[in-house]
Amino acid sequence: MTQTRVLSEAFYTRAQEIIARYPVARSALIMLLHEAQDEIGYVNDDVIREVGRVLHLTPADVEGVATFYTMFKRKHPGKFLISLCTNLSCTINGADETVDALRDAIGPPDEATADGVCSWESVECLATCHWAVAAQVNYLDVPFLTPDRARKLVDGLKAGRELDALLAELRAAKSLSEARGG
Ligand code: FES
Repeated sequence: MTQTRVLSEAFYTRAQEIIARYPVARSALIMLLHEAQDEIGYVNDDVIREVGRVLHLTPADVEGVATFYTMFKRKHPGKFLISLCTNLSCTINGADETVDALRDAIGPPDEATADGVCSWESVECLATCHWAVAAQVNYLDVPFLTPDRARKLVDGLKAGRELDALLAELRAAKSLSEARGG
């Protein structure tokens, strides 16, 4: 029986090139998940099955890795993905309030808005604790994401403003108290 594929021939060609770099095929798993996610935007059940077949791994083997790392998305993210740090320094500085603001403005975590413009996720330390509450948009740093600034960011993205311009405005604040308008 022919199995339907969601990944392209180019993916399969590239997969063989990547696998050839490693003494053991399964060592290529993370690289292949990146390749697949780059191609279709996320790692769905079809991708998990296909990558497993290429590497002779079970879907459970692949899913275990795909769900361990937050960099792999199990649902299609929005065009703009806001990653909010909810680790210690950021929580102490108010990440919970920013979570509430993002939930109000976008919806539940890991779910894109109906127009596909925005989604948000909670992540571990981004190594920018000096900017707590720290965040990223499409992996570009955003310092001091207070609730007001989160609402401004989402409103701007939904209104079609350029991400670079929004980031430049948000990066102008040099401290949390400045970001809070204090
Ligand atoms: S704890 Fe949030 S960036 Fe480190």
